[in-house]
Amino acid sequence: MKVITSIAELREIITSRNQKLAFVPTMGNLHQGHLDLIVRAHELAEIVIASIFVNPMQFAAGEDLSNYPRTLDRDISKLEAENVDYLFAPDVNEIYGQDIAQTTQVVVPGISSLWCGESRTGHFEGVTTVVNKLFNLIQPDIAVFGEKDFQQLTIIKKMVSDLNMPVEIIGVPTRREEDGLAMSSRNGYLTSNEREIAPKLRQSLLNIKNEIVVAKDPDYQLIIDQEKRRLDQTGFKTDYLAVCRQSDLMPAQSGDKNLVIIAAAYLGNARLIDNLILS
Ligand code: PAJ
Repeated sequence: MKVITSIAELREIITSRNQKLAFVPTMGNLHQGHLDLIVRAHELAEIVIASIFVNPMQFAAGEDLSNYPRTLDRDISKLEAENVDYLFAPDVNEIYGQDIAQTTQVVVPGISSLWCGESRTGHFEGVTTVVNKLFNLIQPDIAVFGEKDFQQLTIIKKMVSDLNMPVEIIGVPTRREEDGLAMSSRNGYLTSNEREIAPKLRQSLLNIKNEIVVAKDPDYQLIIDQEKRRLDQTGFKTDYLAVCRQSDLMPAQSGDKNLVIIAAAYLGNARLIDNLILS
């Protein structure tokens, strides 16, 4: 695997390629969920390029930017074991220059202000801006994202469609620990006691699904309020819990099809997110 840190070197490699290229953007501290994306990328293209860049623009004020786990050497070994062809791992200056506050931003309106966007002001604007920059630099045919971050995936699909970007976006199912907890770099913030409680978030999503499935005309709000209370009694501080339409993440109305249950909850210092797609 060739590790690239400069845009100039990246450009040389990109312009000289003539095979299909799949791209997997990450912020590092890689786990099996990230590696699933790499496996999928290999199935779809001849060349696989990953990136590791802890993007300051997508961290809201007071968030964990400075503590975010950085484990580059270990990540490189994992990517090498998965036969990744190139890793792009630039520093902040290479991506944003000196003045990040003056950088042009890419904004997907509406949906970027919902849910995670409401509690993490500017988060999705940071995501869409950096993903747009990375797409421009890497020019992939395909880019692979996790369904774990369902709102992020939905926003990126909309950005690509709205801006006619020539890249196909592929979603990959969430990789979980044996007890059902969705794998996440932020799980490392959990104490051992919190780690035992953490799978209850997933359990809540399953409970909601079961209640929806058995009801003829489910009262989503009633079901959600019940589960939210249960989560908060367990030790979580629920940020949001909602049944939404997959297409635009607006709250589901009676009769809507293709739904997704989405959740975010604080547990100690960690903010956990998860979702369950109802098909
Ligand atoms: P990061 O949190 O490192 O995640 C990188 C990719 O891995 C995302 O597409 C995410 O959805 C996926 N992923 C994370 N945990 C997963 C799991 N348990 N199962 C399956 N996929 C999982 O998401 C980001 O970084 C950033 O916002 C980024 C897109 C790189 C832009 O900075």
